[in-house]
Amino acid sequence: MPAVLGVLTAGGDCPGLNAVVRAVVARGIRTHDMEVVGILNGWDGLMEGDSRSLDRDDVRGILARGGTILGTSRKDPYVHGDGWRSVERTLQSNGIDALIVIGGDGTLQTALHLHQDSGFPIIGVPKTIDNDIAATDITFGFDTAVQIATEAIDRIATTAESHNRIMLVEVMGRTKGWIAAYSGIAGGADMIIIPEIDYDLDAITDVIRRRHRHGHNYSVVVVGEGVEPPPERKVESRMDAFGFERLGGVAYALAPELEERTGFETRVTVLGHLQRGGTPTATDRVLATRFGVAAVDMAAAGQSGVMVAARGTEMVSVPLGDGCAEVRGVDAQLYDVAQTFFD
Ligand code: F6P
Repeated sequence: MPAVLGVLTAGGDCPGLNAVVRAVVARGIRTHDMEVVGILNGWDGLMEGDSRSLDRDDVRGILARGGTILGTSRKDPYVHGDGWRSVERTLQSNGIDALIVIGGDGTLQTALHLHQDSGFPIIGVPKTIDNDIAATDITFGFDTAVQIATEAIDRIATTAESHNRIMLVEVMGRTKGWIAAYSGIAGGADMIIIPEIDYDLDAITDVIRRRHRHGHNYSVVVVGEGVEPPPERKVESRMDAFGFERLGGVAYALAPELEERTGFETRVTVLGHLQRGGTPTATDRVLATRFGVAAVDMAAAGQSGVMVAARGTEMVSVPLGDGCAEVRGVDAQLYDVAQTFFD
């Protein structure tokens, strides 16, 4: 059993990260008599030697806090360093003999490479508000993002009521429309446009016109950020400092099209990072806690090169490679449920 456990959070932050860190520390120390070392700022901390010892008191009061007390970054030892060689020293100098890596598919991919190159025991914990990691039924952070987006839709609907307007609400999710589909269904959206399903502006125009003809004086349209803009309104693709495509803003390309076609004034709200900030929902706190506890138990049992996955009511271990192998999109059945209300 490892005596010293390292833990890091990498990639974009996500509500529930602190709940996982808290669970890792409490389970490691209290149940397995381990020491826990927090690596600061994701892989960057492993490359630069930034870490701190974590005891039980360090993680009291963080369960409900958004963000991550460890900090995070998109630095990657294979892109910005020399792979295993650039992280080895920090692991050794802290006496770390197993590492818990909390991250999305990119982070899990890096964790897999490190594990394959060195055989070092690594346990992955999947995180993303996008809920698109196929190997797990659900990821923490998603419920919080959906809750925030749903509240926004509710609010937008009441301000819209007094105007003959179309309100476009753009939500996150990258190439998958989980947040759009769930918040759209929960918020009673009149139309939901997601990257997985081709959209037809004429059909959408017909639905909206019909609604307004029948006395409904506003329409709320939820749009996933990864939706392709109309061909005549291409949005220039932008990269962040680490070479990831920066999404966001497709609703601004759709709005003039809908306004012209329907004749109704159209307004846009891009929710952006609001969806990732603040306190996690109770569901996410519980889920994140279960992920953290399961990860430590797997490390204690000598497992390595695995990832924790939620399957039904269980937490199971799956090969780390599964965490980055496949992304999952919204299924046709769920979208069919949503479509029932496009009228
Ligand atoms: O993957 C999570 C996510 O929040 C996406 O939904 C979004 O496109 C992206 O991260 C935003 O990343 P950043 O914080 O780098 O702008």
